[in-house]
Amino acid sequence: TEVKVFAPATVANVVCGFDVLGFAVNEPGDEVVMRVTGTPGITISKITGDDGRLPLDPAKNTVSVSVQHYLNSIGRADIGLDIELHKKMPIGSGLGSSSASTVAGLYAIKTLLGDDRDVINLLPFAMKGEEMACGHGHADNVAPALLGGFVLIRSYEPLDVVRLPHPAGLYCAIVFPDVDVPTREARQIIRTKILMRDAVTQWGNIAGLVSGLFMQDIDLIGRSMQDVLVEPVRSMLIPDFYKMREIAMENGAVSFGISGSGPSVFAFTKDEATATLITQKLQQHLTGIKIGSNTYVSTI
Ligand code: HSE
Repeated sequence: TEVKVFAPATVANVVCGFDVLGFAVNEPGDEVVMRVTGTPGITISKITGDDGRLPLDPAKNTVSVSVQHYLNSIGRADIGLDIELHKKMPIGSGLGSSSASTVAGLYAIKTLLGDDRDVINLLPFAMKGEEMACGHGHADNVAPALLGGFVLIRSYEPLDVVRLPHPAGLYCAIVFPDVDVPTREARQIIRTKILMRDAVTQWGNIAGLVSGLFMQDIDLIGRSMQDVLVEPVRSMLIPDFYKMREIAMENGAVSFGISGSGPSVFAFTKDEATATLITQKLQQHLTGIKIGSNTYVSTI
């Protein structure tokens, strides 16, 4: 028996919700093909689309490691599995690349074993994969990759994940400037102490964003998407970040910010044509400063 599973890219933080908010997009994403073998243990027979950057060693790959944690938890470490990973999205892009692979792998094993519990049970294992990928087991990529749509991590201990609604007709324009920003490093530069004044601004914005999602108020969503804590530091790692924001806003974006830990940036728009226009304008700008890019347009 063999299964093939796709899991989507995700935009974590959603500007003001560092480590607590994320949403899934339609594309890009990753695909895992998993089959049961006769020999106990996990092998990874093939990885495509990674330019040789990901380990085939099952002890070092986030997909096999998280699947192994899952198997241990249900007492099935005896099973033999072979994994093929087909990366269909850039690595280190800030689009939840490791999450997409991990979630596809966990969903594949859940399906192969006929485990019919709610997918939310896979979340702690997916977080183990994140911990391995960047040194911290945050859930704001893996939870939306697993559940789809918009997700809030209300609490990590204990884990409390809330699915949020979102207005129909909200589009997302994504641009990945081809520069390297490892999440591990992008986490290390964040300030660990913040001012009360900034905290007040930030939680006002998070509450405004979540209210806007419930009220289907795209303008409230837009004006709430400001980050005074993380973006001022991380924006330095992204070429022409503030210029790109200006271009996006001038061309009709509702909001603009860093996707996850960057370097990808994203904008919300009220229609697909505006999202497409923004990706084109940003790509043109990046080409002008000799930086290659990939772009994506998605509903949420
Ligand atoms: N919340 C995480 C971070 C997401 O910003 O570091 C990483 O994609």
